Amino acid sequence: MSVFPPPAPALTWRTIGGILDFYVFLGPDPGSVVEQYVDVIGRPAMPIYWALGYHLCRWGYNSSDSTWEVVKSLRNYGIPHDTQWNDIDYMDQFKDFTFDPTNFDSLPDLVRDLHAHNQTYVIMLDPAISSTQPKGSYWPFDEGLKRGVFMKDAEGKPLIGKVWPGQTAFPDFSDEVTHEWWFDNLRKFHEKVPFDGLWIDMNEPSNFVDGSMNGCPTNSLENPPYTPGVLGGFLRSKTVCASVQQKQSTHYNLHSLYGLMEAKASASALKRILSKRPFVISRSSFPSQGLYSGHWLGDNRSQWKDLYTSITGILTFNLFGIPLVGADICGFSEEPQEELCVRWTQLGAFYPFTRNHNTVGMKPQDPTAFSPLAREAMKQALLLRYSLFPFLYTLFHHAHLHGHTVARPLMFEFPGDVKTYGIDKQFLWGRSLLVTPVLEPGVDFVGGYFPPGLWFDYFTVRLDINKMKKSFNSVDILFFHLRGILFAAPNLTLWISSGQPLHLVSALSDDGSASGDLFWDDGESLDTYETNQYTYIVFSVSQVLTMTSQVLHSSQEASFLSVDSTSFYGVPEKPSRVLVNTREVPFTYRDNQVKMRFMLQVH
Ligand code: NOJ
Repeated sequence: MSVFPPPAPALTWRTIGGILDFYVFLGPDPGSVVEQYVDVIGRPAMPIYWALGYHLCRWGYNSSDSTWEVVKSLRNYGIPHDTQWNDIDYMDQFKDFTFDPTNFDSLPDLVRDLHAHNQTYVIMLDPAISSTQPKGSYWPFDEGLKRGVFMKDAEGKPLIGKVWPGQTAFPDFSDEVTHEWWFDNLRKFHEKVPFDGLWIDMNEPSNFVDGSMNGCPTNSLENPPYTPGVLGGFLRSKTVCASVQQKQSTHYNLHSLYGLMEAKASASALKRILSKRPFVISRSSFPSQGLYSGHWLGDNRSQWKDLYTSITGILTFNLFGIPLVGADICGFSEEPQEELCVRWTQLGAFYPFTRNHNTVGMKPQDPTAFSPLAREAMKQALLLRYSLFPFLYTLFHHAHLHGHTVARPLMFEFPGDVKTYGIDKQFLWGRSLLVTPVLEPGVDFVGGYFPPGLWFDYFTVRLDINKMKKSFNSVDILFFHLRGILFAAPNLTLWISSGQPLHLVSALSDDGSASGDLFWDDGESLDTYETNQYTYIVFSVSQVLTMTSQVLHSSQEASFLSVDSTSFYGVPEKPSRVLVNTREVPFTYRDNQVKMRFMLQVH
């Protein structure tokens, strides 16, 4: 099916048949439309906490030792780093469920070392399975053949295409038998390399030849009366034959579901192996994907325009109920200039999923590969992200519970303000944080729009609502404004795992009120909300400057919370005294800000 835009206000849907179910979501506002849509397709899974940390990857580390060197280098500079990834290089001749015994011989030790430092490890998996290994030498193919898990050609034999390892067969994830086989492979490989998450790539499914090594039969599925504008002009272009048979139907009917079904099999296998929330990031996606995986936006380039367009990509996938989404930070192909990589890391610190990834043969682009100034700017951006983890995690809870977006367009919060409609260079986290990134080289100012209300500069607590442009000279400044209440936990590790005391920040609106909330749990157990193993608190500040908190739910399992300081932004006059539960406490007052230290504990 193809969808054509104008003549506005209309859309043209072109289809050659099939059963079409239409849903119309009435909103009335954009956020409600997304909630209603996500209600139909399924609300996204709550991510494991480290999914929200900093992820580092590249194609072409070449060895486990060189991967390890980079891990150590980030540690050395104190750069937040939760998860290290490996691309296809770790595999033995690009075969799934193997690792290169020569160049990656230290891989199991590397993973153990990551775990010893509270870090995690993610492996790449492609769906296509090498079909040319000597019989008895490659269990995944031999066993797959035995169990009949591969897609079949017109003669009932496994369809053979070509991907990284050479000739390959394609698992049919529409068959439960395949899910069990996939699990068995993962379980066996996990015994050798105790990975924590999966990166599922090439799952459109992608094929280096059109259809199969033997082409495709001539029939109506291969040559339908109308072919949408797909890459290569044929349904079989760079994928498998449309008429290939899968368990539940023809590939013609199931093609777009391939990545979804693989993600489902992968998430379920990880749950069984690790008994934790599964971490899966998929290239191909389909409605309902958020139930099983996050998504990265695929191969981009190290160019300023790709930095800019990544914002719409991130926002769009939030509308699709896949809030765990990010673009390859610093760009996948080509080599970024240092300034671009700094700006990208600053924007990427506000992607819901933050991963730096780079193609083979290019210079390293991790933060330690650059000058001390650039490295420090990247480190500060990532530390800022880490400090905001309690807020970000709470947003993911609302995505899981209500189908809310995490990163959202300004028009979602200000549907009555037409000036927000076309904004694609700024975005919000939830309703409270306005991100205005630098998207151009060599600038010392950035233009932005402040929707109605008071927006405080997070760092300077200044109100600059009348100034669209603010100048700055150094690379270490981000544009970042706040309304409402949030928690920060400045730390090198994600708050859930550190138990650090929190800093509570309340930015008051023009009538002196503010509100916010906090959800937390142990960060990794399955279904904590559904099984009441979480704590949830709402906070509000009323007009007479009284803050109250209400524990709406608490649980033993969620470790206790402690707040050790709090700030109020937007207090026009110095208060005569500040009371915490009737007890007077010392405070400071400067530039509209009241700041105090006190211990608050919630058990
Ligand atoms: C294609 C993916 O999009 C890219 O991220 C990956 O590095 C390569 N495949 C190699 O596995």
